Amino acid sequence: MTTTSSAYSIAAGWRRGPRRVLRLVLAGPFLTLMGCSGRQSILDPAGSDASQLLQLFWVMLTGAVIIWLAVIGLYLFVTQLRTGPMPRPAAETVIIGGGILLPLVVLIALVSYGLNIMPEQRAPGDGLKVRVIGERWWWRVEYLPPGAETPIVSANELRLPVGQRTEIELEAAKVIHAFWVPALGGKTDMIPGQLNRMSLEPTRVGTFRGQCTEFCGLSHALMAFEAVVMPEQEFAGWLARQAEPAAAAGVADPGRELFFAEGCGACHTVMGTAAVGAVGPDLSHVGSRVSLAAAALPMNREALVRWIRDAKAVKPGAEMPAYDHLSESELQALAGWLESLQ
Ligand code: CUA
Repeated sequence: MTTTSSAYSIAAGWRRGPRRVLRLVLAGPFLTLMGCSGRQSILDPAGSDASQLLQLFWVMLTGAVIIWLAVIGLYLFVTQLRTGPMPRPAAETVIIGGGILLPLVVLIALVSYGLNIMPEQRAPGDGLKVRVIGERWWWRVEYLPPGAETPIVSANELRLPVGQRTEIELEAAKVIHAFWVPALGGKTDMIPGQLNRMSLEPTRVGTFRGQCTEFCGLSHALMAFEAVVMPEQEFAGWLARQAEPAAAAGVADPGRELFFAEGCGACHTVMGTAAVGAVGPDLSHVGSRVSLAAAALPMNREALVRWIRDAKAVKPGAEMPAYDHLSESELQALAGWLESLQ
């Protein structure tokens, strides 16, 4: 997209003078580099796996640049400096050396380096295990602390303790997805009927962005999530709260009444209530999440209202039906109760 638009800009700029073209050419890499920091960038790692991949990236890039410079140098040499025919022995040396030996040495070196870091990328976890299941188009997330019999269920958000290696099990419900938090590690496919595994070791506390990176249908681009890396103690407290019903779950409330009257519990679970549906995301602590609808919306009252009124308007193809028959005050009440599920 950027490449095409810069190509158009350069063509348009050419008509207005070469200096403008030069400015555009210089601005290109600068603008590209501006996207390198931030919470969804491989160039700004917050995990040991991502740091290792970044090092691999720099090694590969350096290798590629050196080879590119050598090839261009050779090209300029034979087209500008020594344009006459080359004696046969020299030509054979160039072909055998540059065409066979050099690529062999370079590729073997780069592949060995790449394969060498693979075992570390597949290291087993320290204790906590998280199962993430790709749904259309959201993430089912289940935490399994060591010794736990039943998972602690959440959705659309991944929380991890800093400094620990968490085992991540990946599955998919219907179609292929791919799990990727660029700041924390590499990506892994999520395939229906196959259990894939990886592990992540965050090194920095913060909120990072994950994104589905395998085209999975209409709302693929809207299938994201927040990866929240927390200090160890804070994470333990958070997980303990997730295992219990939210305080507001059992409290009488007009929004709560609407939730059951509208049949929301057929698809959603709210721990501590009669709602045990498993079709859609678990809502037991939905109000405490950073985002809504797999990071398509922020988590606040207005976004909840917008989502409940017409989910498909936010996320095309979403299975959640529209509740546009509810009045504004009813939507506000329902959203208010969901928001209180902390
Ligand atoms: Cu899920 Cu793309």
